[in-house]
Amino acid sequence: MSTLERLGLAALRRIDPETAHRLALKALRSGFAPLPGPVTSPRLRCEVAGLALPNPVGLAAGFDKNAECLTPLARAGFGFVEVGAATPRPQHGNPRPRLFRLPEDGAVINRFGFNNAGMEVIAARLEQRPQGMILGLNLGANKDSADRAEDFATVLSRCGPHIDFATVNVSSPNTENLRDLQGAAALEALLQGVIEARNWLPRRIPVFLKIAPDLTDEELADIARVALYRGVDAIVATNTTLSREGLTSRHRDEKGGLSGTPLFARSTRVLAKLHEITDGAIPLIGVGGISTGADAYAKIRAGASAVQLYTALAYHGLTRAAEIARELDRLLDRDGFANTSEAVGTGRKDFL
Ligand code: FNR
Repeated sequence: MSTLERLGLAALRRIDPETAHRLALKALRSGFAPLPGPVTSPRLRCEVAGLALPNPVGLAAGFDKNAECLTPLARAGFGFVEVGAATPRPQHGNPRPRLFRLPEDGAVINRFGFNNAGMEVIAARLEQRPQGMILGLNLGANKDSADRAEDFATVLSRCGPHIDFATVNVSSPNTENLRDLQGAAALEALLQGVIEARNWLPRRIPVFLKIAPDLTDEELADIARVALYRGVDAIVATNTTLSREGLTSRHRDEKGGLSGTPLFARSTRVLAKLHEITDGAIPLIGVGGISTGADAYAKIRAGASAVQLYTALAYHGLTRAAEIARELDRLLDRDGFANTSEAVGTGRKDFL
């Protein structure tokens, strides 16, 4: 982290977290933030669900909900970037405050509730995307939608021509009953609609499914079965948790989804379990509590073909992504792996 970045982060930490995040995005857009540029190596380069990634460390959804920072994010060292969630119509989300720092726990609680500018505004920005980045969109549903399942297909149809992958997010805890769409019957119908919408796009893009960390092994097995049957291209594990286990910070009882360090063990266990259930039949993307290269490496050993992060960037700055990718490269080298794919799932049993 540069001195400038350290000073910037210290200043941002003194103000309300949502305002701080807005300012950070503004700084990013105006070119103040130092960016490392592309990070890659023969060991880091990998292919996931047909996407050729320069490295397997991606930006998780929710950081740039409205696709406002595509140009700087293309130079931030990520192997791939996911923006959104986008819903068909714009919506304000839940009342503020709705984002809380838990610094003693290295965590964040958010209950944003899919605040976003809506798919039309977002599609116009995606259309202007810079070349040379792997860009995905997180699909969401409007809170007051008459047919939430259809919302996912609607956003995909509108934005699909301008992205490289789309993620069906049925795992946000902040839209009431959304997680019910993870049930086998509902999920199957929803995915049928989404895959059909994908098949109408001018160019085939992979569709990912993002799941919650708070599922039983039976529910995980059901989800894996439906995802495979419907031809989902990858599963993203996981979104934020409702668990509050082991927290010490004063905001620990705020309602919403918990992310960051305390999510690591739970989300990595879900990842390893999914890898065991699917036995490599579908690529997995590991998310939840990554803040070092060793964490990213652990996710890969647990079964992830690629990883994503968000919360650690709020605590350590955006340059942390490139540092994680470089450390991952060193760890793969140390353990004699020629590339990322060789390491996938090799330590699964340690996380079950
Ligand atoms: C999120 N996350 C999220 N996920 C998603 O699928 N759609 C979204 O719109 C959002 N929005 C969002 C906002 C905020 C403020 C946070 C902190 C998180 C979840 C995110 O993508 C990721 O799955 C979790 O945060 C776990 O990863 P980290 O943060 O522990 O690295």
